[in-house]
Order: sequence, then structure tokens, then C-alpha cells
Amino acid sequence: MTPPKPRILTGDTPTGRLHLGHWVGSVENRVALQDDYECFFLIANMHAFTTRADKPGEIRESTLEIVKDWLACGIDPERATIVLQSEIPAIVELSWYFAMLIPFNRVMRNPTLKTEIDAKGLGDHYSFGFPLYAVGQCADILVFRPELVPVGEDQIAHIEMTREVARKFNQVYCGVDPQTEDADYVKAGGLFPIPAAKVGRIARLAGTDGKHKMSKSLDNAIFLTDTPKQVKKKLGQLYTGRQSMDEPGDINNSLFQFVRAFIKDEQRVKELEEAYSTGANIGDGHIKAEVAEAISELLAPIQERRARYEGPGGDDLVIDVIREGIRKATPAAEETLALAKQAMKLDFTSRAVSFSEDGR
Ligand code: TRP
Repeated sequence: MTPPKPRILTGDTPTGRLHLGHWVGSVENRVALQDDYECFFLIANMHAFTTRADKPGEIRESTLEIVKDWLACGIDPERATIVLQSEIPAIVELSWYFAMLIPFNRVMRNPTLKTEIDAKGLGDHYSFGFPLYAVGQCADILVFRPELVPVGEDQIAHIEMTREVARKFNQVYCGVDPQTEDADYVKAGGLFPIPAAKVGRIARLAGTDGKHKMSKSLDNAIFLTDTPKQVKKKLGQLYTGRQSMDEPGDINNSLFQFVRAFIKDEQRVKELEEAYSTGANIGDGHIKAEVAEAISELLAPIQERRARYEGPGGDDLVIDVIREGIRKATPAAEETLALAKQAMKLDFTSRAVSFSEDGR
């Protein structure tokens, strides 16, 4: 028998379609790691309710759109398991237990939460569920006992909290010595591995405003569904401040981040860097056009695969994929929960989650 593959868990909150920042930050990694790891990809639809509790229709639509984007990118439901958060009760149960292991002040010091409160202008009127989601994210991850969590840079604070919770649980309920090295927790009798974050090749892709991180809410994103014309137009708006074709340019500007991120021919990248930095008769417009072409080349096969899910009946295909994922994810999540409850001396009975034949 081949030994089981190490596991990955990661996911997205369904707040809109995916853009190039998601691709280089995490999705590209997920697609590449599907063969070497047992992969779980989570749609955090419960988290979407933290700030949009009054918009269930939008959340449902975004959920389907995200899965379409994943399938289009090459996430393969035969090899990976797609996990719909709201249908995995073990996640909610573990969240409750984990909430006892983290000081409330520690949660509120999580820099990702703080940034979100500022960016979304939540002030002091966010819901109780808003900080709770950070505890929930620890459960999203640990319920699958993964070794690796491929995420964008903004998620690192959540992974750090997850690692703290995993250590604490292992120490309190599994008797693991606090001096144990992170890599040795399971060997030392712990239930949870201490998972590591893995950030994509570009941690922070700038948006087409040339300033902020690419983000749907800042209106500076190139979506995976954008046509070549839209890509060209959006890149055309990227401001560099350079005045003429012979002005030496800064190859650390956001235009050149795009050049290095999307032009595959390394020789060509070097040529462009050389010409730009010396001001050798090369216009920003020309470079933008070349980048736009490279991006559209990357997006063409993605959009071709997506077309299958966009026509009539597309949503039903996606819902089938989601149901299949729920069935595959449930036993893995239930197994962890049962072991966690056993460690917590809560093993009074055992249960099985069942599904009806027609999938509904
Ligand atoms: N918070 C993540 C985001 O907004 C989504 C998410 C929820 C997630 N649970 C997760 C990511 C677990 C990685 C692991 O992008």
C-alpha cells in the first residue's frame, strides 16, 4: 500500500469572482499541488455572512461563481475535495471548543481582523460573528489536519493563530510537552499537526491603479473572466508617471511586477528590464500591450473550461460537484471531530452523518 499523501487545506470566502491576485497568490499553487497532496479546498460561505448577513442571494451566487472559477483554473474534483463550509457540522463544533483555548484579546489583536475592520469601516459595530470567524478559520483548517495551507500573504495572521490553537489543544488534551518542536507534535501524541502557510510566487500583486493590492472592492482588479479587450483596457490605465520613451524607468514599479509575473519568456523579461531602465526607446504602452497579451494567453484556457459551466444547466453541474465534495469531506471531518472529542473525554456515543439518495 502507498503511504497516505500529506494534506493541504485552503479556501476562499465567496465575495465575488476571482482575479489575477488570487491566481498568483494561491490558486496557481493549489492547481500545481493536486497530485502530491490530498487536497481540500474550502468555500467559506459561513464567513461571508459575517459582513453580509442580509445578502444570502449574493452569497449563494458568489459560492457558485467561485467553484466555477476553481474548476476553470484546473482544480479537479476527481483529485481534490471541494468543501462547502456550511455543510460540515464538525467545523462548527470544533470552533466552539477552540474558542475556549484562545484568549479573547488574542483574537482581537489578530492583525488581519484589525485591517479588515479598518478597510471595511466596521468601527465598533461589527457582529459578534465577525471575530468569531477567525476562530472558525482555525477549525476550517484543523478539521482536515493538513500540513500545508497555501494562502495569500494577508492570511498569514490566521495561520499563526491556527498554529497556536493546534499547539494548545495538543498540550491540554493530548498531553504533549510544550517544549516539543512544531514538526514533532503528532509524533509526540498530538492530534493536530502544526500546519505551515505557503505563500504563492507573488505575495502581493498590485492592482491596475498601480498602488494598492489587487482587490475587487478597490475596483482595480483584472478578473479571470475578463476578455482580452478588457485586460488591455485595464492595463492601459496603469499609471507609472513616466513621460517619454527615452526616460529611464523604474523596473520595480507595478508595471514591471506584471511583466515578471506574466511574461513567461525570461529572456524577454530581461530585455524589457534592460530597455526600460536605460530608457532605450521603449514606451509604457508597448509594454502594457505585451503584458496584456501574456495575461490573455494565460486566461484563454481558463475561460474555455469555464464556458461549460456558464450556459444553461451550468449551475446544476456545479451543485453536483459541491454535493460530491460534501460527501467526500464529511468522513474526514467527522473522524477528526471524533478523535478530538475522545481527547476531551467527550466520547459518550458515536454518530454517522448520512445523506439522502437523491443528493438533496
Ligand atoms: N479567510 C479566507 C479569505 O477570506 C478564507 C478562508 C476561510 C480560508 N477558511 C480558510 C483560507 C482556511 C485558508 C484556510 O480569503
